[in-house]
Amino acid sequence: MAGAIAANPLGNTPQMGFNTWNSFKANYDHDIIHDVASLMVSLGLKEAGYNYLLLDEGWSDMERTEEGSLQANRTSFPDGIKPLVNRVHGMGLKLGLYGDSGILTCGFRPGSWGYEERDAITLAEWGVDYWKYDNCGGFQAMTHTPQERFMTMQNALLRTGRDILYSVCEWGFQFPWHWGGNIGHSYRMSGDITASFTNETGCPCKTAYCLNTGYAGCSVTSILRKMREISVYQERSHWLDMDMLEVGVGNMTIYMQQTHFAFWAALKSPLIIGADPRELGGVSLEILKNRDIISLNQDPLGLPVHFIGSAGVEGFIQVWAGELEAGNVVMVFNEKSYPQDVSVSLKDLNLGIDHPVRARELWSGESWGKISSVETTLEAYQTLVFRLA
Ligand code: GLA
Repeated sequence: MAGAIAANPLGNTPQMGFNTWNSFKANYDHDIIHDVASLMVSLGLKEAGYNYLLLDEGWSDMERTEEGSLQANRTSFPDGIKPLVNRVHGMGLKLGLYGDSGILTCGFRPGSWGYEERDAITLAEWGVDYWKYDNCGGFQAMTHTPQERFMTMQNALLRTGRDILYSVCEWGFQFPWHWGGNIGHSYRMSGDITASFTNETGCPCKTAYCLNTGYAGCSVTSILRKMREISVYQERSHWLDMDMLEVGVGNMTIYMQQTHFAFWAALKSPLIIGADPRELGGVSLEILKNRDIISLNQDPLGLPVHFIGSAGVEGFIQVWAGELEAGNVVMVFNEKSYPQDVSVSLKDLNLGIDHPVRARELWSGESWGKISSVETTLEAYQTLVFRLA
């Protein structure tokens, strides 16, 4: 994308923040967003790197203004967006909004089809920092290719001259990882996530190359399964987006939440919290603020882990590994609902390791000394994450 490599380029590392959708759906207002902004600071989320506050479906009115501009919902945001942006900026955070490349958003609010220039200018005038752009919205828009629809908005945003992070949300439709990287700072690769490892409520596609990408209800493990095929397309400033985090949402065990967070981080997905900050605490908050895991995501090298099928046991144990600026990372995941013994030799990981190396496990924080293999027992759905010197 033009301008992608600048002194401090947007999307240089995967973006981090909070988004309203997973917890609030479209039911939030000015008061809730003020609370959320304060909590992002007081819970230490901002300090951990989560600096984008993202208003998904629900912020906008059902109608455009008489002049044809987007406007905030007049009941839930009576002062409009600009004062909110100013307040959020004053707290050291950035603000993002949601729109759609069709005539309507998924929630039947105005989409930007045919209004791209006008809407980009509105966003810039309001001081918005982030634009999530969805793929719903009516037959007429669907007769145009996603490349055209999403590029039109990308160009409109660039023309404003404002740094607006462009988060494409077209669910992996027509395999955007093959579009040559010329797509937003990040782009979704699957239908919407659900807070589960096993119970999918939709999501007919279990692999990345499937024509019916499914629109919602994808489990954490399904999304991870698709990344086996496409982690090789992960690219700086055009990050494959595995969807918002479900850590702290629903009933996932601690090990499930750790596994979910570790893979999103190490695969270089944007890290966007979906839990309600007013209820976020305890272990879930600790997981989200784990600096060692976050540092995998924000590593300057920008390379994801890859699935090493030959080092695991299909259907039972998954092994993923990759390079960091300093050293390597190895992940061993028990994908079963019962404990399993594992034995993984580091020389089998395509990392060029042929002698014992110093290893630290990041969830426990414990040093394992110099190792040439991982021999241990993993609990149900547990992932151990090793940083190798
Ligand atoms: C789609 C997107 C979600 C969310 C909703 C809002 O499902 O994929 O992330 O933005 O729309 O309606």
